[in-house]
Amino acid sequence: MKVVSLFSGAGGLDLGFKMAGHEIIWANDIYEDAAETYKANIGPHMVCKSIFDVADSDVPECGIVIGGFPCQGFSVANTKRSVDDGRNQLYKELVRVIRAKKPKYFVAENVKGICSLAKGEVLKLILEDFSSLGYKVQAKILNAANYGVPQVRQRVFIVGASVEAGASYEYPAPTHSADGSGGLPKWIGVGEALSGLPDPDLPNAVPNHGYSKYKLRFNGYIGHREIDPLKPAPTVTARGDDKGGVVVLHHPSNQRRMSCRELATVQSFPLDYEFHGTRSSVYRQIGNAVPPLLAYAVARQIK
Ligand SMILES: C[S@@+](CC[C@H](N)C(=O)[O-])C[C@H]1O[C@@H](n2cnc3c(N)ncnc32)[C@H](O)[C@@H]1O
Repeated sequence: MKVVSLFSGAGGLDLGFKMAGHEIIWANDIYEDAAETYKANIGPHMVCKSIFDVADSDVPECGIVIGGFPCQGFSVANTKRSVDDGRNQLYKELVRVIRAKKPKYFVAENVKGICSLAKGEVLKLILEDFSSLGYKVQAKILNAANYGVPQVRQRVFIVGASVEAGASYEYPAPTHSADGSGGLPKWIGVGEALSGLPDPDLPNAVPNHGYSKYKLRFNGYIGHREIDPLKPAPTVTARGDDKGGVVVLHHPSNQRRMSCRELATVQSFPLDYEFHGTRSSVYRQIGNAVPPLLAYAVARQIK
């Protein structure tokens, strides 16, 4: 099906839809480096400007709209007000495009935390907004490790199926399990996932294989934990460090931090996916992305 992609970033979500056989015909992001990465790997249909400067008529007709909308504006303090909050304009832009294009399906991805904002009231209001556009709307938290990604990453996927078009959607069944139960293969360990990559300190031709020298800490916080090579990595994030960069997970050797390439591998990007921009920008693009393998599992349920 033809897909329009908003907040596309480096293209993790889009790559999964492409792998599932869908055709991305239009994409948008305001972040120049991410747009360059997107163009180099997914296609030239990326329009790099703010979604606020995009008119409905600029967006082509499509069967699916996808997008991981930023959610900074959702206040936990006052739910009713939070949905009218000016900072929530980005979410409203996604609603606007869905209202204008009336796709058969939409898929909106977000952090798990959105489910518990204001004791679930924020998510409820979002689901009501989408339902009022004429969609049967579902939301489910999926763990990337259950779909073969060497990372425990829980994200909520809101999927809408057009009532008028008689569409329906079922979430993908896991392909992996934590302990191998259910006859499924076990979660993939981060040590195994990275075992094929050369040492970044030795001469090599692997692109984006430089790494942050930010000092290792072991205080239990995100990015400062001991990594167990036999388990999937903790969530890769785009959170900042105290030097204006991004906090990067330790390599499973626990002797250094992961290179951009290693982090991209933990996010299930293929080895030939090339990232553009400074090292910090590349880490950020990777941390922001939906793991392509997880996106693929979600996308192939849409026929
Ligand atoms: C969570 S990231 C999306 C990652 C993407 N789904 C992926 O899988 O790689 C959210 C994106 O929203 C973009 N964004 C923020 N404000 C925007 C705006 N006003 N117009 C367009 N894009 C915007 C950011 O630049 C960022 O790339």
